Amino acid sequence: MKRQIVLSGIRATGKMHLGNYVGALKNFVELSEDKAMECFYFIANLHTLTTHTNPSELRESVKSVLRDFLACGIDPNVATIYAQSSIPEITELSWMLSCIAPINLLTIMPHFKEKRDKMHEAGMTENAGLLTYPVLMAADILGVKSNLVPVGDDQAPHVEFARELAKKFNDTFGELFQLPKFFGGAGLRLPGLDNRGKMSKSETSSVIYLDDTPDIVRKKLKVAITDPQRIKRYDPGDPNVCNIFNFHHALQTAPLDIARITKECKTGEIGCVECKEILSKVVNDILAPIHERRAKIIGMGTNYIDDVLHEGGLRARKVIRKTVNEAKELVGIPCY
Ligand code: TRP
Repeated sequence: MKRQIVLSGIRATGKMHLGNYVGALKNFVELSEDKAMECFYFIANLHTLTTHTNPSELRESVKSVLRDFLACGIDPNVATIYAQSSIPEITELSWMLSCIAPINLLTIMPHFKEKRDKMHEAGMTENAGLLTYPVLMAADILGVKSNLVPVGDDQAPHVEFARELAKKFNDTFGELFQLPKFFGGAGLRLPGLDNRGKMSKSETSSVIYLDDTPDIVRKKLKVAITDPQRIKRYDPGDPNVCNIFNFHHALQTAPLDIARITKECKTGEIGCVECKEILSKVVNDILAPIHERRAKIIGMGTNYIDDVLHEGGLRARKVIRKTVNEAKELVGIPCY
């Protein structure tokens, strides 16, 4: 049986949170446990360079993301885990792809437009890396000849773009790449605690980090907003407009509890405090095994993290180097 090649990456921008877990990492673990899949998960530290310029923070972020990968249960002996910067061939492939990438498609990418506007607002000029970001991403995907890319909806246009480039390369130079597909089904989008968009690192107060202790989780939830109509304890509420209820759904609180909350919120029988206590337990139950694994990993010493990155880098590089050499041959730019 031919295995599916799964690839996904996460930018190195600091600690991961519950939104990353339910939106991506949980899915990564499940895919890697499926024997029909061969999984490559990497830390996109070259992509981080488009928005971050602090070298020591960047180094630390890569390790922190790796710790989170492992803590969430990705087994480095099953999935290949690596840092993008360990594989220079990716940038070589990225160059070849950039020479067939239509610039008009790059300028209309939502991610590019958003970042460019933010930079303009801050009085800065966008860098070229932001524009070619999707080309590098295509090189990540095509370098391992992936056909399945599990990412959040916001990254779907980038995967579609990689597919277009793969087609164009194959048509122009000869069949080399599989056509990658966006795989979004299993990932959930978790709102921030402040209910202003999805949970995201840039809004620190609205985030539950994967290493938050049970006490911190309780405290953060305590001040999180609920249905704004519920001001006094016995005010009736509407679960459909309550952000905490969104969490109950997304995190799969037990159906019996959900049924009770739905009913008793509307009549004012259950208070927000109790409802949040139920949610705290759900969150802490999700985090408990992650904390346990994290403690084990930290116990194995800092060398362990370096070793995993090194081993994964060697493994991934072997695969990617082969693809890139094939691409160079096809394009007519061999290494003489
Ligand atoms: N751009 C992705 C993000 O910000 C990270 C990423 C880089 C990626 N290269 C990739 C994801 C290749 C999937 C495949 O989330």
